[in-house]
Amino acid sequence: MNILLLNGPNLNMLGQREPDKYGTQTLAEIVESVKALAQQHAVSLDHFQSNAEHALIDRVQQALGKVDAIIINPGAFTHTSIALRDALLSVGIPFYEVHLSNVHARENFRHHSYFSDIAAGVLVGMGSLGYQLALTAAVSHFNSN
Ligand code: DQA
Repeated sequence: MNILLLNGPNLNMLGQREPDKYGTQTLAEIVESVKALAQQHAVSLDHFQSNAEHALIDRVQQALGKVDAIIINPGAFTHTSIALRDALLSVGIPFYEVHLSNVHARENFRHHSYFSDIAAGVLVGMGSLGYQLALTAAVSHFNSN
């Protein structure tokens, strides 16, 4: 099984970015822990972070025929990007949406997601554990099919 982990804008700043909301772990530390879990499940995991919408879209398109599940934290693109939503719809790869913070307990503009209604699962407000839970769900779903 091949999983693609995608992180959107400003998630490269984790560790120093609003630690009260996003925790103190760096993105590298989070990715390392998700990779370790993937290894335990004998799953291959690629990671890509970008601040650019088009780069994330390109990466989703390139996943066609190669990737079995996508785990994505679209960052602020969650609330704005019809284009990234369309990219995920165009490849038809099941994806899990992750948010470190509980977006529903924050500003109104964070309550709407362009991804949640088409996601295989949504993990919100569980910090970096959300990525691990998403990987566990993706593997479990893949193995049961
Ligand atoms: C986020 C929530 C978004 O609203 C925000 O723009 C982010 C991070 C989260 O992981 O909690 O960049 O996706």
